Amino acid sequence: MSSIQTKAENNPHILVLGMGGTIAGIASNPEDSPLKYEAGQIAVGSLLAHIRSAIPEGIALVSHQVANINSRNLSEPLLSLLGETVRQALDNPMVKGVVLTHGTDTMEETGVFLQLTCGRSAQDLGKRVIITGAMLPSNASKADGPSNLLDAIRWASTPLENCPGGIYAVMDGRGCLAMDLAKRHATDLNAPIQASPSSSVGLINPSWLSGVKAVEAAWLEDLPIPAGNEWPWVEILTSHAGARAETVSHWLDTRVQGLVIAGSGMGGFHDEWAKPLAGATKRGIALVRTTRTGAGTTKQDIPEMDLAGCMASGTLSAPRARIALQLALNAEKQAKLAGKSLTWQDFFARIALLPEFRVRV
Ligand code: SIN
Repeated sequence: MSSIQTKAENNPHILVLGMGGTIAGIASNPEDSPLKYEAGQIAVGSLLAHIRSAIPEGIALVSHQVANINSRNLSEPLLSLLGETVRQALDNPMVKGVVLTHGTDTMEETGVFLQLTCGRSAQDLGKRVIITGAMLPSNASKADGPSNLLDAIRWASTPLENCPGGIYAVMDGRGCLAMDLAKRHATDLNAPIQASPSSSVGLINPSWLSGVKAVEAAWLEDLPIPAGNEWPWVEILTSHAGARAETVSHWLDTRVQGLVIAGSGMGGFHDEWAKPLAGATKRGIALVRTTRTGAGTTKQDIPEMDLAGCMASGTLSAPRARIALQLALNAEKQAKLAGKSLTWQDFFARIALLPEFRVRV
């Protein structure tokens, strides 16, 4: 670590964490084929060096590389490490805000994970964690990473009265709660924001802010972060035309602890699955229904009566519901160890009621 970095660490600063992704990617032939690249090639410190002259006066930055991966390879132990790193940063009085550079492919999972494990602390401690990334590699002529990173740094360091502490995300000049972020386009520069448009950064919309406050009022306690090797095993199964019973029955003789159904329409599934899913619940496998449509709410007992114990996901997409179910199963285990009789459904219900809000500005 350089002496400049050590000195900055002992003074108020914004901590910039690097996880890799396209924002840290390099294309071998950026002029002709900017979309042919390797993600996670450049250190987060170099990304900052590249934008140094544009960083507003008075903002001190410290960088820390948590990982440098293509986020499609995001692992559960890495999420644990990231969660612990963010918690430590929130507890550190010298850290005034946190920026996280991340691949866009699985920002959806990381966004909800950080909200559910660190959201309350961020709110209570009055600090913002801002996730950002890029759709074009760092050496593309129109690379979007530098402006996204600058937006994230500015937002992490703006005064608290403009926007409360919490877990947010920014891409292509627009911000949202990180738990509302989802990549819904393969190539657009604002791909990760499309499903949940919110507020232009620097122009915080009052109705958007009231949505943020509604989530914050509902999220009263962070969930424990599972130890790296103790994440419950949960799979996502998509219902589709021609779905087979074996797709579900296959899991009954494994150690899988939960199944998230990405169902059709309002979260329905093929009749072929009814019997094996009933078998799954009898074996104690946790079941959550979501919709594969990409938007809208999955409600309990709609369109049909749910199997006993099965939970509807509310507005959570399948990838988010999977993380939520893993954290709920882990929270149930921790509660049991502490002598409390809370179930995963108790924890999951708290998560599923969090509103997703879509305000176009
Ligand atoms: C990744 O998710 O790491 C690659 C894709 C991206 O960042 O856009």
